[in-house]
Amino acid sequence: MKINKLAVLTSGGDAPGMNACIRAVVRTAAFYGIDVVGVENGYEGLINKEFKQLETRSVSFIINQGGTILYTARSEKFRTEEGRALAAQNLQSAGVSALVVIGGDGSFRGAQKLNEEHNIPVIGLPATIDNDIYGTDLTIGFTTALNTATEAIDKIRDTASSHNRLFLVEVMGRNSGALAVSVGIAIGAKATLVPERKTTKHELFAQLRKGVVENKKSNIIVIAEGSKLGNAYNLAKDIKEQFDQFDIRVSILGHVQRGGNPCATDRILASQLGVAAVEGLIDGKSNCMAGVQNNQLIYRSLNEVVENQGQENEEYLRIANILSI
Ligand code: F6P
Repeated sequence: MKINKLAVLTSGGDAPGMNACIRAVVRTAAFYGIDVVGVENGYEGLINKEFKQLETRSVSFIINQGGTILYTARSEKFRTEEGRALAAQNLQSAGVSALVVIGGDGSFRGAQKLNEEHNIPVIGLPATIDNDIYGTDLTIGFTTALNTATEAIDKIRDTASSHNRLFLVEVMGRNSGALAVSVGIAIGAKATLVPERKTTKHELFAQLRKGVVENKKSNIIVIAEGSKLGNAYNLAKDIKEQFDQFDIRVSILGHVQRGGNPCATDRILASQLGVAAVEGLIDGKSNCMAGVQNNQLIYRSLNEVVENQGQENEEYLRIANILSI
């Protein structure tokens, strides 16, 4: 398809590697002679016409920066038909003929609607620290967040073992346990609690009791933000009631997991997908997401992506459980 100008935006929670992805989109477009408009503040900026021309040099020295130079926002207006109509009109009057959306599944739903209602070619690129998007093995930002959380908990482990303490460490993931299970394996957690699985308190206490019997010195429980066992502070109280001998501390890692320089894996993934978005649009692909599966670049329809759940964490949970013995 002949494209003279495309737009790129970032939407949803920021993720390390979004900048590397913007850079790849801009430079690939330049390579093929296509102009790029950067849209600030996600879909909100599409409605308010917050457009700026991006050139090869505008994206110098951002490959290593966390966050997003285009900013990100949640837009209520874009959820309405009127909002999307205004966004489409703004794109058309700016001479933009295709849109690249870097974000998570909520952002893809918006892109899909824009395409279906206004026939604007769109490609989504998966970027979220949650790694919860169907159709791709990895999302941009996940590996960096995993490394950040692992490094932080390694430090907590030092103090936990020095004091013989039990730590409950909360990691991000309101609806997805992908980050928690990977962190759980990486730091050798005693237990990992995720939103997708109803581990009972009874099961958790049995696991801790076994450690007590075996005179285990320090314990770290990794708990995802959206765990069904409630928040880390309440759970700490419940554990204390059962096990008076535990000296318990709670640590909430929070948004530190979303910031920071992207690791090399995220920079490479972001670069690969940025190139794929522009080349996909040139090839006439639309209403789809570019991702990687089994080390292969793939394109999946956005309908399929948003209608399905992200990857199952069962196998990683099983591994975490075996190794926490
Ligand atoms: O970006 C994904 C995520 O970090 C989730 O893991 C978390 O639940 C959510 O965003 C928190 O978002 P915020 O605090 O920015 O609203």
